[in-house]
Amino acid sequence: MSYLPKANRYSKMIYRRCGHSGLILPAISLGLWHNFGEDYNHSLKRAICQTAFDTGITHFDLANNYGPPPGSAEEAFGEILKTDFCGFRDELIISSKAGYNMWEGPYGEWGSRKYLIASCDQSLKRMGLDYVDIFYSHRFDPNTPLEETMGALDHIIRSGRALYAGISSYNSTRTREAQKILKELGTPCVIHQPSYNMMNRWVETDGLLTTLSDLGIGSIAFTPLAQGLLTNKYLTGIPSGSRATQDKSLDKTKLSTNMISNLNSLNDIAANRGQSLAQMAIAWVLREEKITTALIGASKPNQVLDCVGAINNLAFSVEELEEINLYAKDEALNLWAKSAEL
Ligand SMILES: NC(=O)c1ccc[n+]([C@@H]2O[C@H](COP(=O)([O-])OP(=O)(O)OC[C@H]3O[C@@H](n4cnc5c(N)ncnc54)[C@H](OP(=O)(O)O)[C@@H]3O)[C@@H](O)[C@H]2O)c1
Repeated sequence: MSYLPKANRYSKMIYRRCGHSGLILPAISLGLWHNFGEDYNHSLKRAICQTAFDTGITHFDLANNYGPPPGSAEEAFGEILKTDFCGFRDELIISSKAGYNMWEGPYGEWGSRKYLIASCDQSLKRMGLDYVDIFYSHRFDPNTPLEETMGALDHIIRSGRALYAGISSYNSTRTREAQKILKELGTPCVIHQPSYNMMNRWVETDGLLTTLSDLGIGSIAFTPLAQGLLTNKYLTGIPSGSRATQDKSLDKTKLSTNMISNLNSLNDIAANRGQSLAQMAIAWVLREEKITTALIGASKPNQVLDCVGAINNLAFSVEELEEINLYAKDEALNLWAKSAEL
């Protein structure tokens, strides 16, 4: 079935400026890490992307390794660009990344010039694009000079393969170093992609949020729902088909009795605000403009609609924030902590 985007798609979404750049992003962005591989139904992938675009989500986030198998999410999105978003390229912000293991041999991961440029070319081919809007170094590489990794990002931008440079999971110190190099090269880092949610608050303790404000870099917080934990999904158990049952990135043993009790308390606070827990979790990440956009994932179109409802109430009273702090405990959910330690 052919798809025509809704005419009123820009009427409700909030858009925020990304740091001190000219790039404007929707308060909620959609990531294709899960549910876009070959193990997932293509018509559902299309429906999720269509629903997102219809609600004003203009930003779709990918990486070379999203699947399974790695690369297949970019291929699926390339199909969707052809069938559904054809003619709308200039209304879309599409990102990709390289840093994790992508192909065999010594040139298929980390941060060398060889890997980043080759991977960017592969991503463009898979998606059928001339350029991506944002290209990220997906993680800091302790064994490659930072000048080389940042030089590769600069080359990717200057050669027209991408419009803006980004980094992901770099800690505050590495971010300052990276930005110094990029600024000297004339290609400033425009966006940082860290994990951040009520149960994973490393960006606060590391000082990254302050660093980003100081440097004028915008930010896109990934896993704002803690991979689905901060929703109504796990309040009474583990439903079949949910991410926690898939033995992928969400370890079901994290769902302790204590955590489930905290999730129920947070759900009560959300209900008092007239929000679902997912909506409150997203609003909480967006409560200050230091975070430009919350990068969600979804396995169904209805989840996108629920999440987008978060923008109806982004304000928190001091009392609400204090009450949330009683239950928003760090639960050792940061799978990307090692990258930030390097
Ligand atoms: N830079 C990096 O290193 C990095 C790493 C990880 C992720 N990311 C990016 O961040 C994106 C988001 O990650 P994520 O998918 O883990 O984010 P998330 O938003 O924390 O979790 C998404 C999951 O939450 C559940 N969900 C979403 N909305 C819901 C709702 N309204 N009600 C109930 N359940 C809901 C769904 O789980 P079910 O599938 O169980 O239904 C969905 O798959 C990725 O796609 C990727 O673009 C980046």
